[in-house]
Parts: sequence; C-alpha cells; structure tokens
Amino acid sequence: MRGDSATCRICAGRVDPWCDFGRQPVSQAFRSPGETADEYFYRLTIGVCAVCTMVQHVERVPPAMMFHADYPFRSGSSAAMARHFEQTAEQLVADERLTRRDALAVEIGCNDGTMLAAFRRAGVRHLGIDPSRAAADIARDAGSPVRVEFFSEATASAVRTTEGPADVVFSANTISHIADVCDVFRGVATLLAPNGVFVFEDRYIGDIVRQTSFDQIYDEHCFLFGVRSVAELAARCGLELVDAVPIPVHGGSIRYTVARPGTRTASPQVARLAEDEREQGLHDPERLRAFEQRVTATRDELVGLLTKLRAQGARVVGYGATAKSATVTNFCGIGTDLVEFVSDSTPEKQGLLTPGMHLPVRPPSAFCDPYPDYALLFAWNHAEEILAKERAFSEQGGRWILYVPKVHIV
Ligand code: TYD
Ligand code: ZN
Repeated sequence: MRGDSATCRICAGRVDPWCDFGRQPVSQAFRSPGETADEYFYRLTIGVCAVCTMVQHVERVPPAMMFHADYPFRSGSSAAMARHFEQTAEQLVADERLTRRDALAVEIGCNDGTMLAAFRRAGVRHLGIDPSRAAADIARDAGSPVRVEFFSEATASAVRTTEGPADVVFSANTISHIADVCDVFRGVATLLAPNGVFVFEDRYIGDIVRQTSFDQIYDEHCFLFGVRSVAELAARCGLELVDAVPIPVHGGSIRYTVARPGTRTASPQVARLAEDEREQGLHDPERLRAFEQRVTATRDELVGLLTKLRAQGARVVGYGATAKSATVTNFCGIGTDLVEFVSDSTPEKQGLLTPGMHLPVRPPSAFCDPYPDYALLFAWNHAEEILAKERAFSEQGGRWILYVPKVHIV
C-alpha cells in the first residue's frame, strides 16, 4: 500500500514512504459545471528522508498545473490572516530597520499583496514575486510592484541586478510549495544583503502529526517542514537557520529566520525544537505509523457521522472550499450525497465544483438561505474568525462539525 521509496529533493537520500491517500485531484482545480474534459489525478503519497528528515511528496504534480494565471486563492480572504501579515510586516520593519533609505523587502508568493500593502504603508521599498497574474494584478492595482514569475536563482539574480540586494526576503505558505526548493534557497543566498534575513512561515510537521491534521497534506505542500529538515536545507544552500518561532496560524506553523552563516546569533529555540522532533520520532516512519491509524479512524468516524445525519434527514453544508478539503473529501469519499454544497467567500471559486468530488461552491448568501442543520468546517484553521462571524447560525440551532484534532460537534 505504501509503494516504493523515492529520492530526497534536498539531499538525494532515501525517502521512505509513510502515508498514502490514494488518487487525488489538483487541490485548487475547481471545475465549471459544464466541463467535460478528463480531470487530472495523481497518487498522493508522502515519505520521510532517512538522511535529512524532510517529509515530502513521492509523486510530483507539475507546478504549472497548480500555480497559473487563474490560481483562485486570495490571501485577503481571511481578515485574521490580513491582520497577521500586517503585524508581521510591522515587526520586520522595526526589527530590521527597513525605513532606512534604500532598504528593500522582497516577498516570494505575494498573492494579492495583502502583506506588501503593509510595507507600502510604512514607506518601505518593496517588491512581490508571484506566478499568478490574476492575484498579482490586485497587488499592482493597489500600488505595489510585482514580477509575475516563479522565484528561482535566475529571478533572484535579475532582481539583484535591477533593485540591489534585499534586506528582508519574506514568504508565507509558499516555500513548501516549490519542488525545487534548493534553487529557491540558492536564489535567496544570491539576493540577500550581507546582513539580510530570509523569514518564512509554513505549516509545521509537528503540529500536523500531533493534531492529525492530515488535510494539510495535498499537492501544493511538496514539503512538510520541520526545524531539523529546514536547518539541513539551509546549510546545504550556504545559509543558516538562526531562529524558529512557533505561531498559531493555519493550525500551527513556524516562522523560520535564515541568514548567512555567522552573521546572526542562533536562538537556542532552534536546537530545542530539533531535540523535541527527535524525541517525537518525526523522522521515523515506524513511529509515524500511529498517525496513519488516526487518519483512518478520523475518516471512518466522519463518514459514519455524515451518513447518520443524512439518514436522519439533516442538511449538511461545507464551509470553506479550501485546498485542504480536497484531501478530506476525496480520501473520505464525501460527495453531494453527504454534503449539499460548500459555502465560500472567494468570488473566483463560486459557481464552480470542487475538484474530484464535485461539490458545488456557493457564495455565503446561500449558506443562510436557509441555514443548514450542520456546517462541516473545512476552513477549521479560521475557526475563531468564522464562528464569530456566523454566530447567528449557532444561535438559531446550527451546529459545526470539525474533524481536527478528532471528529467533534460544537
Ligand atoms: P485557507 O484556510 O486559507 O486554506 P487552504 O490553503 O487550505 O485553501 O482557505 C480558506 C478558504 O475559506 C478560502 O477559500 C476562503 C474561505 N473563507 C470563507 O469562505 N469565509 C471566511 O470567513 C473565511 C475566513 C474563509
Ligand atoms: Zn533528504
């Protein structure tokens, strides 16, 4: 069931298969209802490198199938995340003294410019780089410069030539999306000023395992980063991991700080988290088997609950047509027999069908007209924001179904 081993994209070590989710579609390949073309499927298996501990996909989806002009995700769709990026930018501006003349902040994967806007407001020279034209146009319209392309060593050289070195390179939920991540790190090494920092946030493998949040495993997340594996990756590309700060976004992430070796004092937190990972066995496929068993238990429980509710005549609607939900719906086999439709605030997703299971995506106005009996919260990482926003749903008797860390109703 677990297939063959693969070769590590960081260190060429042996990647031992760990978890298999079977046939999966491209997670954000929403389809028009009239679409007849075959859907692209791949086998979603992840493994752990026996040498550098990087958790990674065994089969690779071609990047152009995932990230293209019409990529539908928008950073600004969560008010809480927009606030988070604003605070992060303000902190970087202060810590790295970016208001000094000629300082430059570059964001890899700037999407609609939610983060760039904060640099703009602070008067910091900035540049976004993102291959999605539709998202980049929003950032440009707001007044931030964006290069519409994938970030690579070649892009980094071109930016350094035209703009000079970067004092801060920032990225959120993007670095783990890039299969040739060594090229990205080499590009960062090319672009950074001698004393510059590369700060990036990504979902944390430790939180994914601890909470059984298996829906974080999908095509775009080529890697599930940990402190040990990122330290190894940085070192192999001539850089050093100098800080790792756990942050609560997206169900548990880490903000990594990478610099040129010897230019910054490494925080003791790096060694501490690496030791925790060793103790938890996050490098050991045998110790990770328990995760796989918990995933299967969650699937059985969730499908059992939805089946029972439907048999009782209850209406269940999904909330948030997330990329993550592609793994849940396809792995669990959740179709319109169990969930009527998915409510989502992103105009680009509305009117389309979710990949693989083809659940219709409707605007939030459909959610309350009339309210369903249950809402399955696919966007559980925004639970606080959404439950507050949808208080009227709960007050009139609606219930939320969550499946992280286990299936429960609130
Ligand atoms: P997100 O959780 O950022 O993740 P993923 O990376 O898995 O796609 O996506 C959140 C989705 O939920 C996005 O499509 C917007 C939608 N959403 C709503 O519909 N209403 C809301 O109040 C919020 C916060 C998000
Ligand atoms: Zn490796």
